Amino acid sequence: MSVTPKSAEEIAKMRVAGRLAAEVLDFIEPHVKPGITTDELDRLCHDYMVNVQQTIPAPLNYAPPGYSPYPKSICTSVNHVVCHGVPGERKLKSGDIVNLDITVIKDGFHGDTSRMFCVGPPSVQAKRLCEITYECMWRGIAMVRAGARLGDIGHAIQSHAEKNGCSVVREFCGHGIGRRFHEEPQVLHYGRPGSGLVLEAGMTFTIEPMINAGRADIRALADGWTIVTKDHSLSAQYEHTVLVTDEGYEVMTVSAGMPAPPAFVTAAHV
Ligand code: MF3
Ligand code: CO
Ligand code: CO
Repeated sequence: MSVTPKSAEEIAKMRVAGRLAAEVLDFIEPHVKPGITTDELDRLCHDYMVNVQQTIPAPLNYAPPGYSPYPKSICTSVNHVVCHGVPGERKLKSGDIVNLDITVIKDGFHGDTSRMFCVGPPSVQAKRLCEITYECMWRGIAMVRAGARLGDIGHAIQSHAEKNGCSVVREFCGHGIGRRFHEEPQVLHYGRPGSGLVLEAGMTFTIEPMINAGRADIRALADGWTIVTKDHSLSAQYEHTVLVTDEGYEVMTVSAGMPAPPAFVTAAHV
């Protein structure tokens, strides 16, 4: 496995792409209300990316080996949908939780980020799952620094999820990102401390844990994209794109409206 650290010029472009991806989430937040369809959210985000930002929505027509081209510009994963929910005519209703996952291309580079949104007041269980998942992502991010290993990230995420009675989806992982949407390394959201690739300054990858309230098992729907929990339990996900530095990390998908990191994250590193 070869992972090439980015140059200063590449990192500067990744910062721009990352910020733009996060700003799509800021833009769409006020629209995530009961009665809107996931297709309408897709259309609003698509038009914002293409017409306002002049970015390219990376999911549209994305076709990794073995997949049919993805038909929309964003992923909308509601309730028991784990990831890659395809926007459609479904109307959001009060009590739903939805992950919106945005990937833009700007000047040849990708920025990839997702957040959970609550539609109206969430149930106690749904709110707790979203909070735990957010903490899982940040516990993973907090492990990032040159010299640390990928297994340190995976272990931090897995132990926090399981300590809270939740489970980690195994089939999908974070990924290197740059000129390509998905590149090496694979960033597993479970693992053993001290194992796996040694991180080097200049590497860029996503951390994007999918955490289920019930069992970890998943299945794919007939559309070939949508992934759901087998037991229909709720699933949540957050995603940031990060850069490895000698001192720690830099979150690349930052924006004015992004949720504050949990209290255990020291401000110096954000
Ligand atoms: N944005 C997703 C990720 O975090 C990938 C979505 S692929 C798509 O890796 F084709 F479904 F958009
Ligand atoms: Co990603
Ligand atoms: Co994503």
